Amino acid sequence: MFAALKSIGAYVPKKVLTNKDFEKMVDTSDEWIKKRTGIEKRHIAADNESTSDLAAKACEAAIVRSGLDKSQIDALICATISPDYLCMPSTACLVADKIGIKNIPSFDISAACSGFVYALAIAKSFIESKMFKNVLIVGAEKLSSIVDYTDRTTCVLFGDGAGAAVISSTDKKEEAIIDVKISSDGTYQDFLITPGCGSKNPCSKEVLENRLNYIKMKGNETFKLAVKTLTNDVLEIMKENNLSSEDIDYFIPHQANYRIIEAVRSKMNFPKEKTVLTVAKYGNTSAASIPMAMNDWYESGKLKKGDLMLLDTFGGGLTWGSALVHFAGENL
Ligand code: ACO
Repeated sequence: MFAALKSIGAYVPKKVLTNKDFEKMVDTSDEWIKKRTGIEKRHIAADNESTSDLAAKACEAAIVRSGLDKSQIDALICATISPDYLCMPSTACLVADKIGIKNIPSFDISAACSGFVYALAIAKSFIESKMFKNVLIVGAEKLSSIVDYTDRTTCVLFGDGAGAAVISSTDKKEEAIIDVKISSDGTYQDFLITPGCGSKNPCSKEVLENRLNYIKMKGNETFKLAVKTLTNDVLEIMKENNLSSEDIDYFIPHQANYRIIEAVRSKMNFPKEKTVLTVAKYGNTSAASIPMAMNDWYESGKLKKGDLMLLDTFGGGLTWGSALVHFAGENL
């Protein structure tokens, strides 16, 4: 029994914030943002849209494309760092309710930008252990709710969105998710952190006044570690599976910064035209970034049944992960 990625879906909120918009908000420029990150714009959820709303729309799209009935979904995993509620209920439970599924296990996981790849690893294990047949995974973020729009070093980087996939059992090896590797190192916990409003620094007037409820990032340190870790990670997963760059159809990395992606791509000696890039139009959408990029590629008609994708991600924790995944869905 193998696990296979049967379908992909995404939701992108309508409102757009361009780099020019940020020039009116903080001391920055379109030129700086484009040169240092590759980002040109990002989508922002409406005030009345929460993470579960974005996730539910992405899930609906993925279920329709899987050809399954909702009643066939056995479990739902939501990866997010911007849940609807800080403690409970989980965003996954809200998503299940919104899409009309009940009496299945639904839970959130927290692995920052690596959340989708972590969810993929869990879904694969559920299926290979024969516990479930169809697992719905979704990476969804309303990062605009935890971004400090007075801090130019972080606010220009992030956007909102959601991407979902149905992972199903198959007996066809050529459809299988070949491998998923996930890891972490808490030594670097302060590189990317939202210090306030958790049990360590509960929400208080002081926490809010010091803006500790927002994302803080040691950008440059994170950048250097991201390039090193991601490069080692992709080379390792290919080696362990006896694959080379020529065997991979598409490289779908986490979309945090064009320069990080470019550095890893060139170290892999992988063709530019087979590297999926959405950072310019979506910015960094954390756990939603990889499935949103995959969905873009699918909707552009380039991702076909049987294609082998290499996924690679890095985020707060620090966490990271990579995966070798066949696309087992139907061609669009
Ligand atoms: N506009 C203009 N200037 C800026 C801006 C801005 N928006 N932001 C920072 N600067 C300034 C800094 O203040 C600094 O000025 P100084 O030299 O006078 O001190 C200068 O630009 C250079 O700053 P650096 O931080 O060294 O710039 P760098 O080239 O490293 O780019 C960036 C910053 C884009 C954040 C980059 O470091 C990066 O992408 N880091 C990694 C992000 C990432 O991968 N995160 C992981 C996933 S996110 C998650 O898990 C949620």
